[in-house]
Amino acid sequence: MTTEHFDKAAADYDKKSRRIVLADTISSAINNLPLSKQMCGMEFGCGTGLVGMGVAPSLCELIAIDTSQGMLDVLQQKVLDQGITNIQTLCCDFSADTYTQKHDIIICSMTLHHLKDAKGLLLHFTELLNPGGYLAIADLITEDGSFHDPSAKGIWHHGFDPKELTTLLEGFAMEDIKSTIIHIIIKKAQKNKEFPVFLLTGRKK
Ligand SMILES: C[S@@+](CC[C@H](N)C(=O)[O-])C[C@H]1O[C@@H](n2cnc3c(N)ncnc32)[C@H](O)[C@@H]1O
Repeated sequence: MTTEHFDKAAADYDKKSRRIVLADTISSAINNLPLSKQMCGMEFGCGTGLVGMGVAPSLCELIAIDTSQGMLDVLQQKVLDQGITNIQTLCCDFSADTYTQKHDIIICSMTLHHLKDAKGLLLHFTELLNPGGYLAIADLITEDGSFHDPSAKGIWHHGFDPKELTTLLEGFAMEDIKSTIIHIIIKKAQKNKEFPVFLLTGRKK
């Protein structure tokens, strides 16, 4: 799915209750990490902030990054409406390697499958973490390609195997890596087909 797709989808993105339920589950689990008001976080592919807004109250600040200005506009409006002062939005294509700010936690929820060079992005995340900083990745478990519409563009991965990601991240100076199936998306339109979602967390050495 392209930036244009998310720009168009932005106004109605929060109307799907399954997205809210998934995001609430992910943000609650991330809040179980030992977060503190001294920590500066970043969410990559934040969308309308469904996950980030749930985690930001536990942090000093959250930089919310996305390539879709439409999605960020929806988040920015919620930030204004709710008087939130510690979320900053940033529209950029950070896979271009221009982003060097260090963080104490980096979150990437349901976005990794949109990145062609997912491994390169994970390496970049780990390079941006301060020692002891946390990485939290949520995405689909490897699926058969039926999660997205066949016409959807920009789907580079049909989910991931958390064990493979764990091995990869261990090579990128991450430790205490844990993964769990955090939620199962059930698609009624596909005869109640189940798509498990994992949450993987780890700490930078
Ligand atoms: C499925 S949405 C997930 C939104 C949010 N993280 C959530 O869990 O509700 C994927 C988001 O990733 C963003 N995205 C896709 N490719 C990106 C890239 N290269 N850099 C930053 N954001 C990207 C899209 O614009 C979209 O907002």
